[in-house]
Amino acid sequence: MADVIIRQAQPEDAGDIYEIEQICFPDPWSLDSISYELEENPRAFYVVAQHSGKVVGYAGLWWVLDEGHITNVAVRPGYRNRKIAEGILSVLLEHTIEQGILHHTLEVRRSNDPAINLYEKFGFETCGVRKGYYRFGGEDALIMWRHEPEREPEEDAEKAAAEE
Ligand SMILES: CC(C)(COP(=O)(O)OP(=O)(O)OC[C@H]1O[C@@H](n2cnc3c(N)ncnc32)[C@H](O)[C@@H]1OP(=O)(O)O)[C@@H](O)C(=O)NCCC(=O)NCCS
Repeated sequence: MADVIIRQAQPEDAGDIYEIEQICFPDPWSLDSISYELEENPRAFYVVAQHSGKVVGYAGLWWVLDEGHITNVAVRPGYRNRKIAEGILSVLLEHTIEQGILHHTLEVRRSNDPAINLYEKFGFETCGVRKGYYRFGGEDALIMWRHEPEREPEEDAEKAAAEE
């Protein structure tokens, strides 16, 4: 989507992220939890999409050893189907892969076709099920993983040369 900026989230974005959480999820994170993620958690990395000065989507991730655990991805209803989630997830993955995080995982409601399609588009595959995982509704969660192939050092050098 034109005029959408995708950038690392800042502490000032906590209120907007909280608002989107409340709209999109039956069990939203609290404002305090979101603020902690953005201000204090050294293992958290969040990305937002901004349009006309307003945050319209976001995604977050925790670094756990050499794995990235995606915590949430959400886009405001009026801004969906415009490749915003795709843009956010691309930035989140690219940034963490550059930092050496080659394995990414997440949980998603079994019935959440839009999200499952999105993740499959990025190469995530279902590897397991957590029965009755969600507090609201007791729905199962699919556990999805994506594994970035290890790059040979020459490939990195070639990529760097091509980018110069
Ligand atoms: C899932 C969600 C983040 C997608 O955001 P979005 O910005 O509309 O998605 P995009 O426009 O970037 O779509 C990218 C891909 O996702 C999939 N997708 C998105 N919306 C879809 C829908 N309504 N039905 C089927 N697939 C869909 C498609 O594969 C799409 O690629 P395509 O357009 O080439 O088919 C959004 O629907 C949302 O916020 N849902 C509520 C919160 C949520 O459930 N988050 C996931 C928690 S695990």
